[in-house]
Amino acid sequence: MEMGDAVLVLSPLLVGVSAAPADAPAASGWASKIKVIRNAEYPLDVVDKLEEDMFPKVEAFLNKKIAAGKNNGCTLENAAVRREWSDMSIPDREEYVRAVTCLMKLPAKADKNKFPGAISRFDDFVAYHMTHAGVLHDNLHLFAAHKYFLYAYEQALRNECNYTGYQPYMNYDRYANDPINSPMFNGNSSSMGGNGEHDPTYRGITQNGRNPNLIKSGGGGGCVKSGPFSDMVVSLGPMTKMVANIPSNRRSDGLGSNPRCLRRDINRNAAMGATADRAYKLINGNKGIDGFYNELLGQPPPKNDPYPWGIHTAGHYIHAVDPGGDPATSPGDPVFYFHHGALDRLWWIWQMQDPDARLNAVPLIMADMPGMNHGKRQKKPVDLDKEMMDIDWIAPPIKLLEAHDNLGGNGGAFCYVYV
Ligand SMILES: *[C@@H]1O[C@H](CO)[C@@H](O)[C@H](O)[C@H]1NC(C)=O
Ligand SMILES: *[C@@H]1O[C@H](CO)[C@@H](O)[C@H](O)[C@H]1NC(C)=O
Repeated sequence: MEMGDAVLVLSPLLVGVSAAPADAPAASGWASKIKVIRNAEYPLDVVDKLEEDMFPKVEAFLNKKIAAGKNNGCTLENAAVRREWSDMSIPDREEYVRAVTCLMKLPAKADKNKFPGAISRFDDFVAYHMTHAGVLHDNLHLFAAHKYFLYAYEQALRNECNYTGYQPYMNYDRYANDPINSPMFNGNSSSMGGNGEHDPTYRGITQNGRNPNLIKSGGGGGCVKSGPFSDMVVSLGPMTKMVANIPSNRRSDGLGSNPRCLRRDINRNAAMGATADRAYKLINGNKGIDGFYNELLGQPPPKNDPYPWGIHTAGHYIHAVDPGGDPATSPGDPVFYFHHGALDRLWWIWQMQDPDARLNAVPLIMADMPGMNHGKRQKKPVDLDKEMMDIDWIAPPIKLLEAHDNLGGNGGAFCYVYV
């Protein structure tokens, strides 16, 4: 509710003044530099608090770079703020929705011969993700590639569809208990579209090797009939048969045109695997990046856990059926970008607990993400300073480690925080 939104702009004047709101973050330099907006309906969870407590470290990290002349012009004052969906005002949410629907109407730039099923600019990103699953998901690049990919998408929304905000993220914890009635999925004009209609043939999504080995259907599974994306035409994919009853693509690589509705199953059983206590444990329980990476992916499968999916999988299946449930085609549901924004945020919070040790940490073990057969394990040592991050025709290649730093990386093009 817009009326309920608490808008807290921490101006320098308020810092240190006793009249500041009681729940304001501790008066530190950062709080006067970033515009914090909180929706009063959602009290801060353990990860939100961890993030607030982390900001002085972020500030110290950035001050050190500024002193060394290495911040590439990025400061906390000019950093973009990626917000949680329900912290955004309703007009801002609607502006975002308009920008996404605009991208779905602009013509594709992808090569028509290679990607005949890419009918819109929105599809360009889907087609890229479908054909570059390797570089997007191997252990060296998973985090960095998705950071860069999201940035390129955010830039397209801003530069090609005149969006004035930044990519929002989804704090799963806010919606986990009742996702269907949440501001993300309630199907009204300021949501990201509603649930799919009930499809009795949709049982859920299989989770080989986990116990339970199925994310049971939340009751949807059919076409989305409410909200901004109810008339969306999904064209690319699927690439796998992970989700039953989806008409096959006429091309085995999934890149042909296969027009169909957007299908969803807004799913509490999935969402419960991505609650804040889990994210907190993920961040605080792993000093090394390998552990963080494995736990995020739910590898090895947690035992004695009713929702043993790992946050990465849980976040995908909060909404997914088609195309969201097909790993390679998953950016075809616009909620993908909220989920990967959330993961980028968790990675950042993890990094900033100890920036000197963690900023450039790269997982060197290979976990097998369910549904993705990489077949590759990290064998030989890599020279991380030389390793490139090439997302092909989506954006120019950059060094891998340039895509590790939100605050000044990529020559300063990355300059954002999550709040
Ligand atoms: C849409 O849902 C949001 C979140 O629950 C609510 O704040 C808003 O008032 C709703 N808008 C309409 C038009 O019903
Ligand atoms: C964005 O704004 C420019 C300048 O006002 C306008 O020419 C262009 O058509 C707009 N683009 C879209 C997709 O609305």
